[in-house]
Amino acid sequence: MDIKKTVDLSWDEFDELRDPRPAENGFDAVVERAISRRGFLGGALAFGSGAAVFGTGVLSSATSAQAQAAGFAFTPIGIATDHDIHVPAGYRWKPLVRWGDALFSDAEGAYSPDTGVPVAMSDKVFGENTDGMETFTHEGHTLLAINSEYVNPKINLPAASEGMPQSADEVTMLKNMQGVTVLEIAEADAGYSVVIDSPYNRRITHETQMTMDGPAAGADLVKTKADPEGMSPKGTMNNCGSGKTLWGTYLTCEENFNGYFGATGAYDETDGLKRYGIGGEGRYAYEKFDPRYDLSNEPNEPNRHGWVTEIDPADPASTPVKHTALGRFKHENAEMVQAADGRIVVYMGDDERGEFMYRYVSNGTWAEGQPTDGLLSDGTLYVARFNDDLSGEWLALTPETTGMSLEEILVFSRMAGSKVGATTMDRPEWIAANPLRAEAYCALTNNSRRGLKPNAGGDETPVGGPNPREANKYGQIVRWRPEGEDHGADDFTWDLYVMAGNPSVHGDAYGGSENVTEGNMFNSPDGMAFSSDGMLWIQTDGDDSNEGEFAGQGNNQMLVGNPETGEIARFLTAPNGAEVTGLTWSPDGKVAFVGIQHPGGSWPDGAGKPRSAVIAVWREDGAVFG
Ligand code: FEO
Ligand code: CA
Ligand code: CA
Ligand code: CA
Repeated sequence: MDIKKTVDLSWDEFDELRDPRPAENGFDAVVERAISRRGFLGGALAFGSGAAVFGTGVLSSATSAQAQAAGFAFTPIGIATDHDIHVPAGYRWKPLVRWGDALFSDAEGAYSPDTGVPVAMSDKVFGENTDGMETFTHEGHTLLAINSEYVNPKINLPAASEGMPQSADEVTMLKNMQGVTVLEIAEADAGYSVVIDSPYNRRITHETQMTMDGPAAGADLVKTKADPEGMSPKGTMNNCGSGKTLWGTYLTCEENFNGYFGATGAYDETDGLKRYGIGGEGRYAYEKFDPRYDLSNEPNEPNRHGWVTEIDPADPASTPVKHTALGRFKHENAEMVQAADGRIVVYMGDDERGEFMYRYVSNGTWAEGQPTDGLLSDGTLYVARFNDDLSGEWLALTPETTGMSLEEILVFSRMAGSKVGATTMDRPEWIAANPLRAEAYCALTNNSRRGLKPNAGGDETPVGGPNPREANKYGQIVRWRPEGEDHGADDFTWDLYVMAGNPSVHGDAYGGSENVTEGNMFNSPDGMAFSSDGMLWIQTDGDDSNEGEFAGQGNNQMLVGNPETGEIARFLTAPNGAEVTGLTWSPDGKVAFVGIQHPGGSWPDGAGKPRSAVIAVWREDGAVFG
């Protein structure tokens, strides 16, 4: 591979380059099947028309809050193609914190619009490419924990480096710009502002010392020369989506960790490495300057990444913990809910074409004020199987069901999922649980390989079930309701909340479900979060060319979906080039914090480098909307 080109690729394209799909296919019959399914995929009406599936009792349990929220509290906006943010009339926005903004006073002024941030200050400023985030309150302080998923080396490195690090210092700078930021915010005249030098402000990078717990901690598979006990990994990387525990800590999810590892010499190309897309040359050439990332030196180092990692934002001296019990894959986010009996349930997606959806269930139970020991280290991991009849089940991954040891199940969860026949999905991105009823949603963003190529483990990816379209360009959102309204139940029923598409280009299934119109259309749903009123906020990370298959869809955007009626309305449009990802609210629900990742042009400064940023959005009348 021409390594210079890799910096220009999306993570999806990076994986595609190393494992290309077939040039052509013979799946016409499968396409026919996808189109013929449009009948039952009535979008918003799927639950309604499926009364026999869910029973009218479920639908009539809608709360008054949901009823009040129907119809939306804002006037939906049109598409945009410019380099600005747009929100509905009556709402305002401002950048809260941009990549390069100082967290500490000694870094004030460190950012230059021409050269970015010097290496010496790179871990004292807000990181690049903001993603998942959560709000916390602690002793009267408002804290945000925010992921910085990846870096754009062409923006960060000197032009002479052509987007690839040329020294250990340049690698250090890239490492420091990623990971997690914890920062304190305080109410200002409009929105909030960052509290510089707050004792809570903290950067957690690819070098921060961590620990591990759960059954795979200390296993041979995670031991390295630097850590012969296999208990003390360094760094969290490619932090994509997020989660918040019920006890007030942050969950950061390690997604495309595979791209950080490479080999400078011979190494054993194991099935485990292949299944996770690890090998060859790393995306950022880390392996050339740091032997920790060199597969020919530390073949187990990749096994120490790809976990859900817990951070206590209230204690800047705390050591982050990688929870092996939650499995290792390209974690998108971690949505925590509780089973009826008090056990902890975490829903998780593996964002890879044809990979799986997971659920973790703790053995212990929890209630407010009780100890949390063991809740994320002692439990069972499951994968989802979706049946065409709108039923589904969570399949336990155990030594008995997989023939693998528990350590292997957790380190190579994808292989365990294949053993039990999990459903291959169209890239599971964020999962969001409805706060008003036992129901959860997963954004299946798109899948260029659906019906065309097996996943890296050889599992077929047939068109059908919640993945109904070949070479799925637009994505869909699947939702499920656990049996007995209990997230601890192993059986569920499902439907598609929305199938994105372009009704102005297509008259078939690629035109989308009935709740997609020329007025609200979008592609590639990704980030999702519920507001307290039970509305589903949907963020997109897709094609913003506004041309061809995507004509009329404009820039990436944030929409609001009413779970009850199926209506979807556009709330915000991003600058061209950016995706919208990460959403959390101020403690009083009056200000939304929204992540704008990889903007183009010179957003938001109007000159110089583009800067990913978290923006604050609020209503002019100061009302609660989150
Ligand atoms: Fe980092 Fe799957 O998004
Ligand atoms: Ca995402
Ligand atoms: Ca995405
Ligand atoms: Ca992305």
